[in-house]
Amino acid sequence: MDILSFLLISLKLLFFFYEFAFAIDSISSSESISDGGRTLVSGDGRFELGFFSPGSSKNRYVGIWYKKVPDKTVIWVANRINPINDSSGVLMINSTGSPVVVMRQNKTVVWSGNSTKESKSSVVLQLLNSGNLVLREEQSSGDGLGSYLWQSFDYPCDTLLPEMKLGWDLKTGLERRLSSWTSPDDPSPGDFTWGVELQGNPEIVMWKGSNKFYRGGPWNGIKFSGSLDLRHNSIFELNFVNNVDELYYTFKMIDKSMFSIVVMNKTKNLRERFIWSETTQNWNVYSYLPRDNCDNYGLCGAYGNCIITQSPSCQCLEGFKPKSTGYGDWSKGCVRNKALNYSKLDGFIKFNQIKLPDATNSWVNKSMNLEQCRVKCVENSSCMAYSNLDIRGRGNGCAMWFGDLIDIKQNSNSVQDLFIRMSASELGTKEGPKMKIVVIVTNTAAVAGVLIVGYYIYKKKNEGKGKTDQKIENLELPLFELDKIANATNNFSINNKLGEGGFGPVYKGTLVDGQEIAVKRLSKISTQGINELKNEVILIAKLQHRNLVKLLGCCIQGEEKILIYEFMPNKSLDHFIFGVPGVIQLTILGSKVPDLLAISTPIAGIASHAQI
Ligand SMILES: *[C@@H]1O[C@H](CO)[C@@H](O)[C@H](O)[C@H]1NC(C)=O
Ligand SMILES: *[C@@H]1O[C@H](CO)[C@@H](O)[C@H](O)[C@H]1NC(C)=O
Ligand SMILES: *[C@@H]1O[C@H](CO)[C@@H](O)[C@H](O)[C@H]1NC(C)=O
Ligand SMILES: *[C@@H]1O[C@H](CO)[C@@H](O)[C@H](O)[C@H]1NC(C)=O
Ligand SMILES: *[C@@H]1O[C@H](CO)[C@@H](O)[C@H](O)[C@H]1NC(C)=O
Ligand SMILES: *[C@@H]1O[C@H](CO)[C@@H](O)[C@H](O)[C@H]1NC(C)=O
Ligand SMILES: *[C@@H]1O[C@H](CO)[C@@H](O)[C@H](O)[C@H]1NC(C)=O
Ligand SMILES: *[C@@H]1O[C@H](CO)[C@@H](O)[C@H](O)[C@H]1NC(C)=O
Repeated sequence: MDILSFLLISLKLLFFFYEFAFAIDSISSSESISDGGRTLVSGDGRFELGFFSPGSSKNRYVGIWYKKVPDKTVIWVANRINPINDSSGVLMINSTGSPVVVMRQNKTVVWSGNSTKESKSSVVLQLLNSGNLVLREEQSSGDGLGSYLWQSFDYPCDTLLPEMKLGWDLKTGLERRLSSWTSPDDPSPGDFTWGVELQGNPEIVMWKGSNKFYRGGPWNGIKFSGSLDLRHNSIFELNFVNNVDELYYTFKMIDKSMFSIVVMNKTKNLRERFIWSETTQNWNVYSYLPRDNCDNYGLCGAYGNCIITQSPSCQCLEGFKPKSTGYGDWSKGCVRNKALNYSKLDGFIKFNQIKLPDATNSWVNKSMNLEQCRVKCVENSSCMAYSNLDIRGRGNGCAMWFGDLIDIKQNSNSVQDLFIRMSASELGTKEGPKMKIVVIVTNTAAVAGVLIVGYYIYKKKNEGKGKTDQKIENLELPLFELDKIANATNNFSINNKLGEGGFGPVYKGTLVDGQEIAVKRLSKISTQGINELKNEVILIAKLQHRNLVKLLGCCIQGEEKILIYEFMPNKSLDHFIFGVPGVIQLTILGSKVPDLLAISTPIAGIASHAQI
């Protein structure tokens, strides 16, 4: 080691210790943070509080930012409405024990925290590792959210951090709602907001001004019914708390080495979730909302179902027809084919794989079961639909909808059933759901038999042949380009991952034309070589049946070996896997039959997760 690099390292170390020794995370009543002076740094060095100017603005604000990025990621601003136009700002605790930002020159208070509790002893203002700025009594250890005299987490700006609550403290009436910045130069509250709507069956909602912009759908015990998340991820965990004291949405990191934030951006009209990448020292977009046109609130009007893959996207629910004959005027929605009787003579049709309708006019009971729910709904002439409140286990609780049903969207990842009131004469025309299941199961069992027999015949026939190479060319099976597949799956995003099949991960994707696909990416270490792959392709192509997972094509490019299947909505596969003993046998055999059904395994995984 030469002397120069030795000196350099020593200097760096010195600097590190200097920074470490002098970084403070709290101030007492006799101390202050002034513009241009020192800052507060959380104990773990993740967050920093101080004065800053956003974008090209010269105004000064007190804010908290993520310290690891050279380009500040501001997560909270104190005086967002009242900027200071010079560098005379000071953050301190005033004599009555409230955090305030004042202008030094003329002692004008530009911002103050609203401490709800009186404190008798001396207080400190501390920046916690969570990014929460809290005012607490010096003696109290300070942990436990309830014990703070004031906390910045109660007054969010445009960013939701882990452990932060979005929603209501029902005892004090405090609403915590996110609002975008007005522009990248101006942190004052913009008109793009996100919060929890207080109603019988509460939902998270994004607003543009006072108009609803996006609805998450009611919480079903596991997720929001509009959620596209396919599986339980290992990075963070969502929760929705709904009791007499509190009503809020929150998330926490499972993988503590990672960090995630959700930001409202008015420029893009998007709510984006970012995940911090330690390796690239960058924020990566993990997911965003709204996702597509069908997320536009109420696009298809009453009883319309928005299906993004169809043209036009707005379709009427079964039993309904377009209200307007004018082409493209969907906002008027749909009307019933057959009028209701508004008595016990009416029945219900079960719908699934949809985002449940707007629950503004709703009523819930946590202890009623589905049958009690149906009875109560049919007795009430304004009840148009009901469902379970919580789908965990066998489902429990009762949710009822009054008045027209709006903002329904096709969501193949939703497993919750909605029962919509129908005229008895409409019911007569519908094939009962039980019939359908039976048909599917019978077919499936038959196919299973054909499949196994077919495979062995095929194998016998091919023994000694070995020349599969020419066959793949004769199949006329489309070859997909790798970047097309990468594009369809958000670059094999973890958010699209359905699970792990026999030979590698399976992703859900959407092609440019809207078709939903399942992509099996054969792992590089997979023992399945190019010949096995070709065998599988041939076999599936030969045995294709409408109830089997349909193979659309493959992609063999460099190291990548990928199979592209038609996406099977999990509901039917649910029956497919758990329905009859014969089918279970098939899945076990599936390990002998070349990976053919491995794709159903991960989807079954989701179904079983949904049963937790
Ligand atoms: C700041 O604003 C005040 C009044 O709003 C004005 O008198 C003062 O000149 C401004 N200072 C600067 C540096 O622009
Ligand atoms: C103090 O200065 C600010 C900005 O310079 C101004 O808006 C405010 O009115 C002043 N207050 C007093 C009491 O002079
Ligand atoms: C301290 O700030 C609080 C909150 O704004 C305010 O109610 C109180 O009057 C202030 N006390 C003094 C002495 O400035
Ligand atoms: C402080 O609390 C009072 C009463 O709870 C409320 O009226 C006022 O708007 C609050 N001020 C701020 C800045 O939050
Ligand atoms: C919103 O997104 C745009 C485009 O990526 C970006 O330039 C801007 O800084 C973002 N706005 C805020 C307030 O972060
Ligand atoms: C409901 O059905 C009964 C019996 O068929 C009939 O008498 C009654 O008029 C119907 N009511 C409505 C509103 O259609
Ligand atoms: C909810 O349903 C249960 C069981 O039917 C009943 O005992 C209870 O009173 C209901 N609660 C409300 C608020 O209606
Ligand atoms: C239907 O139920 C709601 C909620 O319980 C109630 O407010 C309404 O009065 C009921 N309507 C009728 C016609 O029973």
